[in-house]
Amino acid sequence: MMTATVLRSLRAREILDSRGHPTIAVEVTLGAGTRALAAVPAGASTGAHEAHERRDGDQERYHGRGVRQAVQAVEGEIQDAVIGLDAMDQRVVDDALNELDGTSDKSRLGANALLGVSLATARAAAQCQGIPLYRHLGGLTARILPAPFMNLLNGGAHARNRLDVQEFMIVPSGASTFGEALRWGAEIFHVLADLLAEAGHGIGLGDEGGFAPPLDSTEDAIEFLLRATERAGYQPGEQVGIALDAAAGELLDNGRYRLKGEDLALEAGGLAAYWTALVDRYPIVSIEDPFGDDDWNAWQAFAATEGNRLQIVGDDLFVTNVDRLDRGIRDRAANALLAKPNQVGTLSETLDAIRTAAAAGLSVIVSHRSGETEDTTIADLAVGTGSGQIKTGSLARGERTAKYNRLLAIEDELGSGAQYAGWQALRRGR
Ligand code: PGA
Ligand code: ZN
Repeated sequence: MMTATVLRSLRAREILDSRGHPTIAVEVTLGAGTRALAAVPAGASTGAHEAHERRDGDQERYHGRGVRQAVQAVEGEIQDAVIGLDAMDQRVVDDALNELDGTSDKSRLGANALLGVSLATARAAAQCQGIPLYRHLGGLTARILPAPFMNLLNGGAHARNRLDVQEFMIVPSGASTFGEALRWGAEIFHVLADLLAEAGHGIGLGDEGGFAPPLDSTEDAIEFLLRATERAGYQPGEQVGIALDAAAGELLDNGRYRLKGEDLALEAGGLAAYWTALVDRYPIVSIEDPFGDDDWNAWQAFAATEGNRLQIVGDDLFVTNVDRLDRGIRDRAANALLAKPNQVGTLSETLDAIRTAAAAGLSVIVSHRSGETEDTTIADLAVGTGSGQIKTGSLARGERTAKYNRLLAIEDELGSGAQYAGWQALRRGR
């Protein structure tokens, strides 16, 4: 008789992500008949060193973005390779996926195909045991609810405005529970809509559900967040921090960082001074990707001067890759990791990166992508790893609220055992 948790079959299909582009969903069936589904997200401001996302390139379908080849790979050679493995042995399954692919960047089979299988395996294993995914991932002691980094104003590659910074976030860390933090965020979000309307701006939404008004200055955007926070009845700094994702790799233009809203073209030193002036002026607690993906010297210099008062987050710098993270730890290039499973392509490698970062004293933010689905795995990943921080967009659009609603359900289920991370997980040091 087949063991209950053994992988019996894989199915995959092309579905749509939140931008209306195709992505892959994978369904795993175990020996006992348990079935679980996982869907893979996709970035827009992707890092140069991310694992390879396989797209068909057939211009006749979805403008070349189809993922039929990835679907076929899952149902063909990947299924042949993993059938009979135990879903409880996540590492064995993920190793088999890597071995089968045989490349360092997962370019043969595609990181999207592999991640779908990897995540669906974990979901099926949890379901088969009758336990929630965060418990399967984090064991008996998992109980920390993350502080949400809520992206209320969208710019950069996520909006068609002139804002250079990609994400303007609020972090309601002063709340006492996740549920309260979520309420504060939603209240601030709605006040922000009023303020933007009063100023005569449209309130269309960007890719991550934040507003994408036609603002062109970073200061302007931050001022709107501060005013919305205050008018909603909360104290900026004390109760609600500001966080930015510069996604500065997207700003590089002929070796300089071009801020089109500000009409500036800066060397790394000039850009560092620009960030420092903002941090002097506003209650900014965290900046992600302040420099480009390979501008290690700029990162290092900035972390040396600002790392003691600011969380400096490597997203496109680290791409959830242990080798790049090791270098960043050695060089003290950043004090936080943004963890995105699809940047590396398996759950085990994502967990490796999170563990490596935590062991070196870096903080961790578990993160969505700008192109998302209804899949809520990252909510469980944040609780399971106790990351204490999550970035999953604004307070609108179902693919964003799905993760928040999952966190509410987890907080509910944990009852008095739940603990909201608040400011605790935010790293400001070294
Ligand atoms: P992406 O953006 O998913 O488009 O890469 C998210 C981020 O940069 O953090
Ligand atoms: Zn980023």
